[in-house]
Amino acid sequence: MPNVKVFQSEEQLKAAFTEKSIRIVRIGEKKVCLAKHGQAFFAFQQLCPHQMHPLKEANITTFGEVVCPLHEYRFNLKTGQEANNRCQAMQTHQLQITTDGVYLNL
Ligand code: FES
Repeated sequence: MPNVKVFQSEEQLKAAFTEKSIRIVRIGEKKVCLAKHGQAFFAFQQLCPHQMHPLKEANITTFGEVVCPLHEYRFNLKTGQEANNRCQAMQTHQLQITTDGVYLNL
């Protein structure tokens, strides 16, 4: 799995997000959502695994879940699992913050 640099530094990553905001990063043809929850950052697939609604429009709950606005399925930010197993899990990606930059593991 390739590691792709998505931010030049941790400071740049932090400056790009407000709490519970979701942004899209593009890596070639691929789009991935990045979100901030508490002090942590998470990466996950761009489209809802239920019926492909864009998760950029989702809400992040205080419990660390991504809530898709279309049918309100709830996906765990860490594991991607839907709260009631109503569909397959959301794909998640690892983010690595190093002194050299912030890398997304695809
Ligand atoms: S499309 Fe996301 S919950 Fe149905």
